[in-house]
Amino acid sequence: LASLFEVFFELFCEILMKALNYAIGVFDSGMGGLTVLAALRRVLPHENFIYLGDTARLPYGTKSQTTVQQYSMQMTKFLLQYNIKALVIACNTATTAALPLIQSTFPSIPVIGVVRPGAAAAVMESKNKNIAVIATERTVASAAYQTEINRLEPHAKVYTKSCGLLVAIAEEGLMHHTIAYDALSYYLADLSDEDTILLGCTHFPVFKETLVKVLGTGIKIVDSAHATAEVLLQELKNKKLLNVNPELGLVQYLVTDSIERFEHIGAIFLQTPLDRKDIVLIDVNMGG
Ligand code: DGL
Repeated sequence: LASLFEVFFELFCEILMKALNYAIGVFDSGMGGLTVLAALRRVLPHENFIYLGDTARLPYGTKSQTTVQQYSMQMTKFLLQYNIKALVIACNTATTAALPLIQSTFPSIPVIGVVRPGAAAAVMESKNKNIAVIATERTVASAAYQTEINRLEPHAKVYTKSCGLLVAIAEEGLMHHTIAYDALSYYLADLSDEDTILLGCTHFPVFKETLVKVLGTGIKIVDSAHATAEVLLQELKNKKLLNVNPELGLVQYLVTDSIERFEHIGAIFLQTPLDRKDIVLIDVNMGG
């Protein structure tokens, strides 16, 4: 009987170890979410990730809530075929449109969005609780950041501005060009006594240096990527899902359009070159 117990115990441990090795799914409308992936890998270097970029249908930021919800559900279902142990919605627009829907449809895995962690980080950083949020048109229209910030700090004043052009400027790699400086100056002309600016879009962390040139050093710049990574770490710890493997984790990239473009433009957001052999073209309508 004792040896039977040992066999079952070993089997149980094997299954458990395999489950801990399962990847964390991350999806975004395209390559911008690689800024979030970079932060996740810094905080969780031993985890494996599957990153799905919906490059065929980006941008999400100008689309309706219904469309973004449909796309996000499709992305999630596709990733679930890979036995992921947690899901990160790296896209701000998808988080604002679809996080509650995805969480309620798939209650068996932790699903983390970028809005709540970003809002919490901004509230922590801001002294005068006057916070500016820059994001896509859909994210601004959803008022999700205001709602989250005011849930934490009811008296906080939140100024939001949709900055659509910045997405294209970032994808052109022009974040240090005068075009970026001019666009930021135009979009941020109405800022007054905000002491913190929250980057509510995956593409915006690459503008940090130019933002300092436009706004000076008196305003704190917060992006949600690092805060999201910390929330995921905590969630994996709580659920005892952390990968105990001492080796560095691997990343598999899945894209719905051109591998070449993802490799080329993705490097801007990941801040390191991508390896073409790690990128696979998929059809979300076809299953995994
Ligand atoms: N990923 C989107 C976001 O963070 C920006 C790009 C898009 O509009 O698809 O809101």
